[in-house]
Amino acid sequence: MSSNISKKKKKNLLKKILILKDFINKNTKDPTLIEYLLEIEKEINEKRYGLLFEEHIEEIISANNIILSEVKELSIDVGGNENILIEGENLAALKVLEQEYRGKIDVICIDPPYNTGNKTLKYNDYDYIDFDDEYSHSKWLSFMEKRLNIAKELLVSNGVIFVNIDETQIGCLILLCEEIFGEQNVDVLIWPKTDPKYDKNRVEKPIFNVKMAHEYVVMCYKNKTNTHFNKMIRRPNHSDFKTPEQPFYMESILNEIGTTSSAKDELHETFGSRDIYVTPKPRKMIKEFVRVAAGPNAIILDFFAGSGTTGHAVMDLNKEDGGKRKFILVTNNENNICIDITYERLKRVIYKDNYTENLKYFKIESIQGL
Ligand SMILES: C[S@@+](CC[C@H](N)C(=O)[O-])C[C@H]1O[C@@H](n2cnc3c(N)ncnc32)[C@H](O)[C@@H]1O
Repeated sequence: MSSNISKKKKKNLLKKILILKDFINKNTKDPTLIEYLLEIEKEINEKRYGLLFEEHIEEIISANNIILSEVKELSIDVGGNENILIEGENLAALKVLEQEYRGKIDVICIDPPYNTGNKTLKYNDYDYIDFDDEYSHSKWLSFMEKRLNIAKELLVSNGVIFVNIDETQIGCLILLCEEIFGEQNVDVLIWPKTDPKYDKNRVEKPIFNVKMAHEYVVMCYKNKTNTHFNKMIRRPNHSDFKTPEQPFYMESILNEIGTTSSAKDELHETFGSRDIYVTPKPRKMIKEFVRVAAGPNAIILDFFAGSGTTGHAVMDLNKEDGGKRKFILVTNNENNICIDITYERLKRVIYKDNYTENLKYFKIESIQGL
């Protein structure tokens, strides 16, 4: 039988600490030395199986110092469901939402920056994560850990979070999610992000050895045993557009829910351009996540909202089945995205598609120093 060397080593180190503690107590009684030893002891005890990464500090603003201030002139009221768009840093927004929505959110869909070095992930609001940075992975993990910890607290007891991700961080993300939600509460799905049937306007990127044709969705349950999925509505795999959609159990390969290229076509429908500085996800994908994971009165949160696909998908689903789902979107205002794209998209589709949906626009404001 193999013996656990790390466990033996740890036991040995802790024994030595005891001897040192004893020596200090008998001879110097210096509280600072005891304090140092306790720190070392804590470090040793924390090492265990799992993900070890350097924690990076973000300026944590306490929830008491943040307020959401409504921008009344951007409010849309057509006498429908109450939805919310929040402009600002999502860690601050999550801290505020935690006060009112702890244990009340049914589904969370997020599409965080993939950490591909494309200057998409701003850290601490000023520092871009550079892919060559030897701490690139630990910075990303620190960033995600803080947000996912709060996200878990927001979920109802049968709630689910869907995280879109590609090959750059999939390994780290699975381990992180297993630590936060428990190994038994994490599933990984594959999303084929290309499909010639959907990709009439795809612009191919240069290929380096292997053409990446899929991404992932990491699904984390608050408690999997409480969760019972509804069926998805989609076309049978590899059929043409004339074949009607039908109910299917969700499969671990997410076919027939659109592609990266078709998601850009959807933005084109609203803005007359496919090239808007955000990488959107197809509306159908988010619609099916929401449909399978919760009922018609669900509250849905997306705190990396980008172009607002999640809001659009929720409104679409409500229109289709008469549901009263509500969404809360959060996104920062990089390149004015929140106002020019997220808000503008929601506004345009509400009026164009006659959605009975209201929208309130809030900004995160710090009242530090007041
Ligand atoms: C990959 S995009 C999401 C795209 C979205 N799924 C869609 O379909 O349009 C990620 C978005 O999150 C925003 N973002 C990144 N870090 C953020 C942060 N710390 N707080 C708030 N928003 C953030 C970015 O500005 C970007 O718009």
